[in-house]
Amino acid sequence: MTEKQKNQLGVLLVGSGSAVPEQIINNNQLASRVDTSDEWITTRTGIRERRIISNQESLLDLCSTAGSHAISMAGWDPQTIDLVILATSTPDDLFGSAAKVQSAIGAQKAFAFDLTAACSGFLFALVTAAQYLRNGSIHRALVIGADQLSSWVDWDDRKSCVLFGDGAGAIALEASQSENGLIGFKFKSDGRRGDCLTLPQKRNFEQLVEGNDFQQGNFSTIQMNGQEVYKFAVREVPAILEELLNIHQINSNSLDWLLLHQANQRIIDAVAARFKIPQSKVLTNLANYGNTSAATIPLLLDQAIRVKKVKKNDLIATSGFGAGLSWGAALIRWHG
Ligand code: UT7
Repeated sequence: MTEKQKNQLGVLLVGSGSAVPEQIINNNQLASRVDTSDEWITTRTGIRERRIISNQESLLDLCSTAGSHAISMAGWDPQTIDLVILATSTPDDLFGSAAKVQSAIGAQKAFAFDLTAACSGFLFALVTAAQYLRNGSIHRALVIGADQLSSWVDWDDRKSCVLFGDGAGAIALEASQSENGLIGFKFKSDGRRGDCLTLPQKRNFEQLVEGNDFQQGNFSTIQMNGQEVYKFAVREVPAILEELLNIHQINSNSLDWLLLHQANQRIIDAVAARFKIPQSKVLTNLANYGNTSAATIPLLLDQAIRVKKVKKNDLIATSGFGAGLSWGAALIRWHG
């Protein structure tokens, strides 16, 4: 540890919350729309059903509920929150939705911004918030991961539509003089390989005035080469986890939990096998929620905390990966 790092504060994970839509769509229902089956989806992905935001709900509601639950677990007055980061690729407003969440949860004194890094977004946001806490410029931060990919899925593309769902999760973070719950992290990006998972603007130029044009904003649907993303995940996630464990001289035996981005059960199983981590230490909720993008990690962590699987001081190795391409891993201790 360098002198500079010694002078930094610790970061504690002190509260968690989550929220999912009421509406459940199971595999058989999807099979009534596209040429697929419950058997195919279950064996290839591990997903049985997903939650989809209906016209009675909104992503903003999910974010606010998840955030409020995390605040109340932490025992905070919302007025004492300094920062709200919303990791999402699907804001209700392209200018950002974080300030709307800040207002809805009553965190009037906090500054708030969105952070976009697709399925890696939550971990990128967690570590971004941690930097402010560690250098002492703020004391309390709320980090939310939330996505509504159902709005951007091509529901007639069986190769991708079976994977995704909607949800939100939140973690409350606090600076500490004596302890530290964010033991380490490692992040990577590779834009050269980004084409295998995109949600691009449509190229849609219209005439502005005679002789000049402009692009009318309008997004396409999710474009995914599933096999490429799969290969990327099973190669890069173990590699980055290994790098992180080595840096901190932590043996995978001493991990209490492995908590991966929930994309495909086969990816989760492959990573667990690579580190010889038994199934009993692998957290998963993929069967019930599918891939909720930036929400998977805080949603699953909150559920595991609330059923008292994850307990105070448990050591968790977590990894997010997805579009960008971007991926990362973090070692965290739940403080509660
Ligand atoms: O946050 C990251 C987001 N993205 C991901 O995590 C995606 C990672 N990739 C995957 O999870 C897997 O690649 C998929 C689940 C998307 C696909 O599984 P796969 O084992 O790689 O299947 P495949 O693409 O090789 O397709 C095998 C067959 C094909 O038929 P043919 O060409 O062999 O006749 C597909 O057309 O399965 C067919 N297929 C389906 N059949 C029934 C593809 N999707 C479906 C489907 N239902 N939904």
